Amino acid sequence: MTEPSAKRKPGTLPGVPVSCIVHPAEGIAGSISVPGDKSISHRVGMIAGLASGISVVKNYLQSEDCISTLRAMEALGARTYALETGELQIEGNGGRMMQPAGMLDVGNSGTTIRLLSGLLAGQSLDVELTGDESLRNRPMKRIKEPLEKMGAKVTLTGEKETAPIRIQGGHLKAIDYLLPMASAQVKSCLLLAGLYAEGKMIITEPAQTRDHTERLFKTMGIPVDVRGLQLHMDGLGPKGPSLDARTFAIPGDFSSAAFWLVAAAARPGQTVTIRNVGLNPRRTALLDVLKRAGATVSISSSREDDLVEEAGDITVTGAELTGVTVEGDEIPNLIDELPIVAVLGALASGRTEIRDAAELRVKESDRIQCMAENLVKMGVKIEEKPDGMIIEPPGELIPQAGLRSYGDHRIAMSMAVLALFAKEPVVIHNIACVDTSYPEFWSHMEALGGHVG
Ligand code: S3P
Repeated sequence: MTEPSAKRKPGTLPGVPVSCIVHPAEGIAGSISVPGDKSISHRVGMIAGLASGISVVKNYLQSEDCISTLRAMEALGARTYALETGELQIEGNGGRMMQPAGMLDVGNSGTTIRLLSGLLAGQSLDVELTGDESLRNRPMKRIKEPLEKMGAKVTLTGEKETAPIRIQGGHLKAIDYLLPMASAQVKSCLLLAGLYAEGKMIITEPAQTRDHTERLFKTMGIPVDVRGLQLHMDGLGPKGPSLDARTFAIPGDFSSAAFWLVAAAARPGQTVTIRNVGLNPRRTALLDVLKRAGATVSISSSREDDLVEEAGDITVTGAELTGVTVEGDEIPNLIDELPIVAVLGALASGRTEIRDAAELRVKESDRIQCMAENLVKMGVKIEEKPDGMIIEPPGELIPQAGLRSYGDHRIAMSMAVLALFAKEPVVIHNIACVDTSYPEFWSHMEALGGHVG
């Protein structure tokens, strides 16, 4: 496909780790639309890549992670075309997966490697998947074990039972599987493998996680029966599904909107509106947290043709925030927002506590440790726990050293939001990773009143 020209800050080069300086801002206010949802884009890229005919995708997220999914689907026989209108056309392989010429490198994308492994498990192919250093350190046994129970051969050739992953697919049988952790990626990996299995798949989650795969299956006419924490699905056997191309409109990514919602919430009287954001309740738990902290949140729903999930405009008006506790079943529904919740804690009065979030340690970075190290440099008192942290805000945020992204997009963006509230300009190192999910982040920061040098 033709690669989009991401709007970068002046002076930066694609792929080069660079630093920036975020200046204190009077406030963050205004109205923007954020790019397409990352989780939905990956799933639409895979499903349209498997369909027969040409699908049109509106608002596909053109970030590095989602481009990795398209490249992988191309290596498996699909074709993608970026149109001048910003829409994407995906010509599916009609379910006939091609043996790729070499290893598939999916960069930083955990969603691509785990979901694609599920899809490949039911194909008579032998495919090796790898990624960047961060991805090659993330746990993959969580997909190996159930996929092997189903009958695929999965070899983890990385040092710590990690990627590269070699999938030798074949004839799958359905399994009844209790997920050991709340993970939408593992659940979706098994749903995609289940499409090619013989028999009835039953997947039980320990807590509800994002359900984009189940919703997309229903849109495509694949029945999935959701009974509380259990999913039942009839496998379709080795031939798999027969899918027709269609038009998919993807809502804006709530996880990208979250940065601006928190930035507005923490400044009394400031208002931000983010238009056309996905409102799937399995993604929007941050809105409850913002309300508990004292901000005002209002939502108006939008109706666009071909929208794959509900969407709307979210308006947040800021207040003097108070600290919050975030824990339990709420965690999977704001798992990617926890770095920015930690920032909210640093900007609120009183103590904020994040618990039951040990999964944060195996994301693109160890997000508990990386957030703690950065927040301490801003004078925030942090008590790190195995499954979260306790945050005590300082009176004033005074940077004592440059902050680091640790190569993790959400750490970089969370720190940039915090820096808007500092007493002095803050240096943030290694920010190229932002392009993983939100290439427009810096230009949107400027559009809302921030200044990045
Ligand atoms: C995702 C699921 C979550 C989330 C990730 C995207 C998905 O990960 O953190 O950014 O698209 O299914 P886990 O499945 O590891 O919880």
